[in-house]
Amino acid sequence: MANSDVNLVVQRGTVHAIVGENGAGKSTLMKTLYGMHRPDSGTVRIDGKAAVLTSPSDAIERGVGMVHQHFQLADNLTVLENVVLGSEPRKGVRLDFPEARRRILEISDRYGLDARPDVLVEELGVGERQRVEILKVLYRGARTLILDEPTAVLVPQEVDELFDALRELKSEGLAIIFISHKLDEVLKVADEITVIRRGSTVATVLPGEVTSRELAELMVGSELPTAETRESTVTDVAELTVSDLSLVDRTGRTLLDDVSFTIHRGEVLGIAGVEGNGQAELVESLMGMRHVSAGTVRLGEIDVTDWSTRRRREGGMAYIAEDRIRHGLLLESPLWENRMLGHQTVPPNSKGALLDIRGAKRDTERIVTDYDVRTPSIDVLASALSGGNQQKLIVGREMSGDPTMLIASHPTRGVDVGAQAAIWDLLRDARAKGLAVLLISADLDELIGLSDSIKVILRGRLVADADPATVTPEQLGSAMTGAEGAA
Ligand SMILES: Nc1ncnc2c1ncn2[C@@H]1O[C@H](COP(=O)(O)OP(=O)(O)OP(=O)(O)O)[C@@H](O)[C@H]1O
Ligand SMILES: [Mg+2]
Repeated sequence: MANSDVNLVVQRGTVHAIVGENGAGKSTLMKTLYGMHRPDSGTVRIDGKAAVLTSPSDAIERGVGMVHQHFQLADNLTVLENVVLGSEPRKGVRLDFPEARRRILEISDRYGLDARPDVLVEELGVGERQRVEILKVLYRGARTLILDEPTAVLVPQEVDELFDALRELKSEGLAIIFISHKLDEVLKVADEITVIRRGSTVATVLPGEVTSRELAELMVGSELPTAETRESTVTDVAELTVSDLSLVDRTGRTLLDDVSFTIHRGEVLGIAGVEGNGQAELVESLMGMRHVSAGTVRLGEIDVTDWSTRRRREGGMAYIAEDRIRHGLLLESPLWENRMLGHQTVPPNSKGALLDIRGAKRDTERIVTDYDVRTPSIDVLASALSGGNQQKLIVGREMSGDPTMLIASHPTRGVDVGAQAAIWDLLRDARAKGLAVLLISADLDELIGLSDSIKVILRGRLVADADPATVTPEQLGSAMTGAEGAA
């Protein structure tokens, strides 16, 4: 059962945060409030009136809007088109675009959302896309706004902007439900916080009454281990050497411009950047998923520039993809098949030329235990796991087989604080044994905390170095947006 005995009262004019471990039932609860699941028992009231919500359109009609964690905008349409899609104002039979534009600008002005109606969504950064999602929900007249992990993909400056908008919205009397694993953020923005454990609400507290540590303990139901201190394990043996790498797309646009760096055994190199500045292209080039236009990639002493992805994996490279839904998992396959994905040709998934299903299943059991993947069995489909548990499965798979080089994009995105600390420990242990890591993360505390050195990427170029021992998240955030004199 995903939810049982949930009691939640959200007041108008407040931000109500929901926190809980991965798989606790936060998203399930929100989908119920948004009409995507029918509750077996219990009632939902909106403004005192019982509401039966059988579909999202029921919810929208009653003023409930939801921004999902994965954006649902159409890239090749403009902001205006995305916002009005599905709820077009009509003049007779024709769409009334001037009226729609007027309303969009009015809403955007009122809440400081800075909308640019005629720009294509594909040209927008992540923060702006998210504001369009919010605008879309407000455009439909939402008075209750549900945000499922909205800050996971934002840099600190964008988080501040989002919080400004939320303050504006609540002063207009909206009710806002906010889910996040970042407890310091929750304490900053929430008026009330409800903790969910194993599908049930266990407490509602005021931010002034608890520390983030106490909040974490309420979520887990026990004390958290303290994070250990770290010491450098960087060696002078180069594991990955990237020289003058450039990537130009079919239209002649430069995506990566003369990128060079070296990662040694036992070293974590962090890449800081606002999403969309070439990180994805860099990672895909390193994994052999794109053909680079110039430059070389060497693994140890070997030039692997022309190697296929499979060969690179067999050569010791592991890869945690940025988008777990699109590149990391087969949602409609059981967990053990997902264990084999991308690793079919190596033990324990194969014996000689044959697949070894027994071996794969046994090793999936090991990952589920070692990485604390909360699941009834290894035979359930990956789609049945909560977001954070899907992520843990991927990290476990990629860390198996003792890689020498790990390319990690947002390795702990969406995992709860306890699981995050556990993954950090596992990465540090592997690093101490010589693992080299390229780390990309929007979580700047993670980037600073795990990295031995940091480089800033901007428009496909490495533009600055930062010292993780001294740099602050704010300084790093400024360097990422290209502000003068930062880092
Ligand atoms: N489509 C589904 N089919 C079966 N079970 C599901 C499905 N989606 C979620 N569950 C189960 O419901 C429980 C709650 O999942 P939910 O996604 O609500 O967790 P969550 O609190 O949002 O976690 P996270 O922080 O990882 O996103 C989990 O045990 C999960 O395995
Ligand atoms: Mg969730």
